[in-house]
Amino acid sequence: MTTSTSRATAPGTDPRQQAREQDLLERVTRSFDSCENPRLKELMVKLVEHLHAYIRDVRLTEPEWAAAIDFLTRCGHISDDKRQEFILLSDVLGASMQTITVNNQAHGDATEATVFGPFFVDGSPEVPLGGDIAGPASGEPCWVEGTVTSTDGIPLPGARIEVWEADGDGRYDVQYDDNRTAGRAHLHTDEEGGYRFWAVTPTPYPIPHDGPVGHLLETVGRSPMRASHLHFMVSHPGSRTLITHIFVRGDTLLDVDTVFGVKESLVKDFQRQQPGTPAPTGRVIDGPWSRVRFDIVLAPEGT
Ligand code: BEZ
Ligand code: FE
Repeated sequence: MTTSTSRATAPGTDPRQQAREQDLLERVTRSFDSCENPRLKELMVKLVEHLHAYIRDVRLTEPEWAAAIDFLTRCGHISDDKRQEFILLSDVLGASMQTITVNNQAHGDATEATVFGPFFVDGSPEVPLGGDIAGPASGEPCWVEGTVTSTDGIPLPGARIEVWEADGDGRYDVQYDDNRTAGRAHLHTDEEGGYRFWAVTPTPYPIPHDGPVGHLLETVGRSPMRASHLHFMVSHPGSRTLITHIFVRGDTLLDVDTVFGVKESLVKDFQRQQPGTPAPTGRVIDGPWSRVRFDIVLAPEGT
């Protein structure tokens, strides 16, 4: 590979050049002709077409391509079973959200999905209805309640609700130095499809930004911050599993959430309660607390 730093010649100036570029593209796409898996073939051919279109459109220089390879190499080196830099890259480029949007088709008034994120852990503790998912997590108490129904308006008893969130300092339990479980649990809806639990009022936090993706964000002048949110994963037999969060109305980060996860329908009123306001479950709280309602609507499975 040569290392010319000059921008390659603009397209369209020389028909022989155009023909060479087009001929290369066609040879590469034809190389998949004998692929027996039609979906894989479609994915590869389209990938090559879009990639070549990008290279030709921006007239990618060889040093730029080398820098891109170096960036991806650094993403690989920092990734392990706990840190997944490629998912972060997909998140900050909006690719995760676009995939979610394509795969969670609008259906009636079904609740919208949003990004899963890297902090879900299987095997969370179960709490009873009205229980506290915060455990040892610091933060201001927050009462969360609502219902789970189908798009036909039928209550869904026994729906499983997984909830997880960062603590009041913006850290998930998996980021602690010890193995404490905090700010995560699951519960089931009652006979009327209702649910309720204590959590902590969500706070903003940065995505992991000490690696190549964080460096990229800094270089392009973007913030690594996520708007304050509380994660939900809701499942019920016969319904499409919903992975989503709720966001805090008034949060100044709603418009600049670094993974593009915010949808207006998911922004909720977290009503601030003054110290001394009687709290659900008879809980005695010294300071302020908040409460929020989130009614969840599940689309039918297979939609
Ligand atoms: C999260 O919300 O937990 C998250 C989502 C995407 C990237 C990093 C964190
Ligand atoms: Fe999160």
